[in-house]
Amino acid sequence: MRRSLYCGLVKPEHVGEDLTLCGWVDRRRDHGGVIFIDLRDREGVVQVVFDPDNADAFNLADGARSEYVLRVKGVVRMRSCETINESMATGHIELYAHSLEILNRAKTPPFQLDHYVNVGEEVRLKYRYMDLRRPEMQKNLKMRSEVTSSVRNFLIQKGFLDIETPVMTRATPEGARDYVIPSRTYPGQFFAMPQSPQIFKQLLMVAGCDRYFQIAKCFRYEDLRADRQPEFTQIDIEASFVDKEDILEVGEELISDIFRKHLSVELGEFPRMSYAEAMRRYGSDKPDMRIPLELVDLKDLLLNVEFKVFSGPANDPKSRVSALKIPGGAALSRKKIDEYTEYVEIYGAKGLAWIKVNELDNGIQGLQSPIIKFIGEQTTLEIMDRLNAQNGDIVFFGADTHKIVSEALGALRCQIAADMGLYVADWAPIWVLDFPMFEVLEDGSFTSLHHPFTSPSCGVEELLKKPAESLSIAYDIVINGYELGGGSIRIHEQKMQEVVFDILKIGKQQQLEKFGFLLDALQFGAPPHGGIAFGLDRLMMLLTEKDSIRDVIAFPKTQSASCLMTDAPSHLDTNQLSELGIRARHFTSQ
Ligand code: AMO
Ligand code: AMP
Repeated sequence: MRRSLYCGLVKPEHVGEDLTLCGWVDRRRDHGGVIFIDLRDREGVVQVVFDPDNADAFNLADGARSEYVLRVKGVVRMRSCETINESMATGHIELYAHSLEILNRAKTPPFQLDHYVNVGEEVRLKYRYMDLRRPEMQKNLKMRSEVTSSVRNFLIQKGFLDIETPVMTRATPEGARDYVIPSRTYPGQFFAMPQSPQIFKQLLMVAGCDRYFQIAKCFRYEDLRADRQPEFTQIDIEASFVDKEDILEVGEELISDIFRKHLSVELGEFPRMSYAEAMRRYGSDKPDMRIPLELVDLKDLLLNVEFKVFSGPANDPKSRVSALKIPGGAALSRKKIDEYTEYVEIYGAKGLAWIKVNELDNGIQGLQSPIIKFIGEQTTLEIMDRLNAQNGDIVFFGADTHKIVSEALGALRCQIAADMGLYVADWAPIWVLDFPMFEVLEDGSFTSLHHPFTSPSCGVEELLKKPAESLSIAYDIVINGYELGGGSIRIHEQKMQEVVFDILKIGKQQQLEKFGFLLDALQFGAPPHGGIAFGLDRLMMLLTEKDSIRDVIAFPKTQSASCLMTDAPSHLDTNQLSELGIRARHFTSQ
């Protein structure tokens, strides 16, 4: 007997109709001779009533338990006034059952689906197929399917071709470690899984495909966080004969289109900011623009103060001394300030000096702080003036290397905004542009800020002269403090690519070994090209307002990159290993 429709879609307009519904027992209640079963499927829950007049169905219903799989036939009727449930989509109606089939039984579930929060994520991940039965998870998966469908429609309509690139390949340089696949035909040799389709999408441009996209699986063996998975999905895009503006336009339109279609939110035109400005004002290259707080630099005022904690860094070109003013923060308790001090220590800060502004009219007497005595009255008042401090503010200070101060105060800004609810917008997208071409490491060597195929905004000669100051044509899109996507215009001339490899000290031999095929391709008429990739999981996390990307991935890995459900990774038996030419030295099967 075919199902008539989904349980969650039965409506008052079906009253009087005979329907066949299928689903899982969400709840079963016995009300003095009448049995109620809430039957659940992908679209929601409907109440089914069994009364003893239909003895066969009633007796079967009596034996049904949580998560049994049922097929029910019955007639839809309005509920009596006192039993209407306004909080349920199907709360005005019920199915009065006349027959029931138990299609399958279920063991007692490892957790009640509505009590999932009590069981911890480990149990949820081990029994992921049960966790996914929860309406919230069904909703997330459904929305993800709708979003990927919108993405495909949008890009195909713009003339992009959906082209698949290999998963068994060579290492791609995106800065993480590779997952590798041993080869049986070439013992001792390995494929790498792609950290992104970067090289292939560039080769597709050399191949003349002109506009490519792919919803691509990427693999990175990196330290995991709430917004990172070892296996994740990118909306990957590349186009030929384009400049930065073309890519920003497509990216902005795509994201705006998704927010409009799926959240009914108009994002408006995305503001733009250089990397340097973002670091200076927000201490981060992914600033959360919902927060109206900014870092203010104070080095020039603190060159000669007695307080070495400030004057030391103020006189050191590699250091930064900045303040973060929090309106209303003077009410923070000592305990809270101590908590924030511990918090910034995670980022390497050695302390968190502060001044509370109680009553500005009283001059220095109106301020409260352990450090005023060390920095002097006049400097303190000059600082207050620069910050335009008001009664009720607290000012936090950071003095250390550029990196530590930016990271510590940048993170503090976000934490305090979350704690005190200081957001002034629901959604705040921003393009971050003009990244430095290279990051200079402690030993003076260079590493790519994006990847080594990113084009500098200057020519070969200038790049060679001032590599540390050169900027790249790279861009990131940030929404609410999350890096949602990033890309760049690529180097399409072999000469420039070689110069960049030289600066990165990737020797000729290594260049040939690692990317010889790309360098070759650049010599066969590579068009100017560029692209971008968006993190689909992060996009879904934002759209569903979840704190973890695991909630928008059907079968995610744990924080330690394992799958509790399939128990992967797992040991291989010795035969399999020897066939692959591999001997496991430290770990043997248990
Ligand atoms: P990038 O490394 O910036 O660029 O990655 C693009 C976007 O992918 C998402 N992302 C991740 N999401 C979940 N888990 C991870 N481990 C993870 N790592 C990255 C982020 C990020 O913004 N080939 C270039 C793109 C290009 O230049 O076109 C690239 O991969 O949202
Ligand atoms: P101290 O003299 O070390 O007791 O520090 C006095 C105040 O300055 C305390 O509130 C510390 O938390 C703070 N402090 C110490 N080092 C730093 C630093 N590098 N940046 C900002 N504040 C600091």
